[in-house]
Amino acid sequence: MAKYNIALCIFLLSLLYITHGKLKNQERRKRESNKFDVLIFTQRWPLTACFMWKEKSEKHDCSLPKRDEWTIHGIWPTRYNTLGPEYCNKSLPFNPSVLAPLKSQLQENWIDIQDGSDPYSFWKHEWYKHGTCAVAIKELNNEYDYFQEGLKLLNTYNMIDILAKANILPGQKYMVENMLIGIQEILNKRGQIMCAHNEETGELYVNEIRICFDKTLQLIDCDGIYKFPTNCDRFKQITYPSSVPHNNRVVQI
Ligand SMILES: *[C@@H]1O[C@H](CO)[C@@H](O)[C@H](O)[C@H]1NC(C)=O
Repeated sequence: MAKYNIALCIFLLSLLYITHGKLKNQERRKRESNKFDVLIFTQRWPLTACFMWKEKSEKHDCSLPKRDEWTIHGIWPTRYNTLGPEYCNKSLPFNPSVLAPLKSQLQENWIDIQDGSDPYSFWKHEWYKHGTCAVAIKELNNEYDYFQEGLKLLNTYNMIDILAKANILPGQKYMVENMLIGIQEILNKRGQIMCAHNEETGELYVNEIRICFDKTLQLIDCDGIYKFPTNCDRFKQITYPSSVPHNNRVVQI
């Protein structure tokens, strides 16, 4: 009988030990959810973003900026070699009225390409997914500052100007290697280029350009971020489109 009790005791103790360990792990993961290495500032080329949106459904329409310009996707706190952290704090609600003073600028420069949705839904999404993690940085520690910093960064690092200085212009095709080198020559730091792929024609379009900042908002090389330096095919030319690409789908009768 005593033997049995001892066995039971050991069993219960190990159970306690395991559950306790699990809880501690969960706690640690939660606490570390807002730890990150770099801030990725992502700009997107609206004409490619529109193409991707229209690919999802023929009913989709886009909102495009008035001028040919890159627009903001977001500022993303990121750990090396992975995505995230994301959605760091649910107790930081998105408040649309806070952005009222920035609204006209956001509508032009942080544009929600996916027309027809609630005008604040893209900003709300970026806030919950990335902004609530970015609050760990002094300059980004509330909703207004997060969006204002995005606008500031675009002002300083707008890719239309940076690429133009490297003689990379809309309406042309380039090897991704040459675009990466162009960005590096102008900024003196390495960035990342992401492509969209036209399934029907096989054509590649430049979709996003990402540059990286440390936690004091100094521009740094993007080396080490997920899919650095590109997801584009290194051996094919990529298009920097000057109008929304389309597929010329064969209409079935
Ligand atoms: C989340 O935000 C709330 C409100 O500002 C704050 O009190 C809380 O400490 C934050 N939680 C974490 C895990 O940072």
